[in-house]
Amino acid sequence: MKVTVIGAGNVGATCADVIAHRELAEEVVLIDIKENFAEGKALDMWQTAPVNYYDSRIKGYTNDYEPTKDSEVVVITSGLPRKPGMTRDDLIATNAGIVKSVTENVVKYSPNAKIVVVSNPLDVMTYCAYLTAKVDSKKVMGMAGILDTARYRAFLATELDVSPKEIQAMLLGGHGDTMVPLPRYTTVSGIPVTELIAEDRLNAIIDRTKKGGGEIVNLLGTSAWYAPGAAAAQMVEAIVRNQRRVLPVCAWLQGEYGLKNIYLGVPAILGKAGIEKIIELKLNAEEMKLVNASAAAVKEVMEVLDNMKLF
Ligand code: NAI
Ligand code: 2OP
Repeated sequence: MKVTVIGAGNVGATCADVIAHRELAEEVVLIDIKENFAEGKALDMWQTAPVNYYDSRIKGYTNDYEPTKDSEVVVITSGLPRKPGMTRDDLIATNAGIVKSVTENVVKYSPNAKIVVVSNPLDVMTYCAYLTAKVDSKKVMGMAGILDTARYRAFLATELDVSPKEIQAMLLGGHGDTMVPLPRYTTVSGIPVTELIAEDRLNAIIDRTKKGGGEIVNLLGTSAWYAPGAAAAQMVEAIVRNQRRVLPVCAWLQGEYGLKNIYLGVPAILGKAGIEKIIELKLNAEEMKLVNASAAAVKEVMEVLDNMKLF
């Protein structure tokens, strides 16, 4: 079984490394447009196999999609990352063309693949891949919520000085500053988080989570990769191992949460078919208002893509 990662940069290489390390596929194919880049990264990673004790074969290719043939899952990370001062939405002009051309190649060789988009602006690039792939929306999804909840959970673990393993959380909305972490659905080993933390501290953590991507961009001069790469690999794992995990996933909504024809982060069951089911939470009025505001922000960027007339 084969998994392909497009883009051998920071996020793509990290994701491929985690996939191989966990032996999620017999073959991991890495593709980049930069001459010899994927080849070099794949060779370096493969040379960790004897040290890290795994059997997954990693191979890299420059813009050649033939070796991706019949991939079970394809992760798309190709595209520019943001620099300090940029929003994710500033990337649309360049990344839409990249995601479109890459997706055309992906479906040409792997028409049945589940596609996990990572490139930004995430919700709209997932929409772009969906318009290009013309396959069942169950098979085209985006990764953002696992990263955003991971940040939220990590901040809570630090604040409460407990293991991050004990913190469960759900988050809705787009991958931007309008994302909606849900304190009502956040627990520490089953204990509502609101019983363990003061409201002002929790609000500060939610605010830091919303700006979590920007915090790293300001520190590094480019965007994060360890957590995003690991988060995308977790989606791959849920699919290839048919785990039916309940994870926040950027999915195509057709009436769920009262929203239609939009890619947005929602809780979903991930398994062999891709998005097996979208879970609809009973949100209160305040939560629904925040989700609607986030959806409106995503719709605005979807319109930018529509106006580019690529489809
Ligand atoms: P990077 O610059 O390190 O890697 C991107 C790679 O894509 C480069 O190696 C580049 O040569 C390659 N590439 C560009 N055009 C290509 C094409 N047509 N075909 C194949 N490869 C191509 O960037 P990084 O940090 O890996 O980020 C990648 C993308 O992921 C960015 O758009 C970034 O904003 C996004 N991102 C999304 C996150 C999320 O939560 N959804 C989190 C972190 C990053
Ligand atoms: C992140 O949240 C930039 O989307 C990227 O780290």
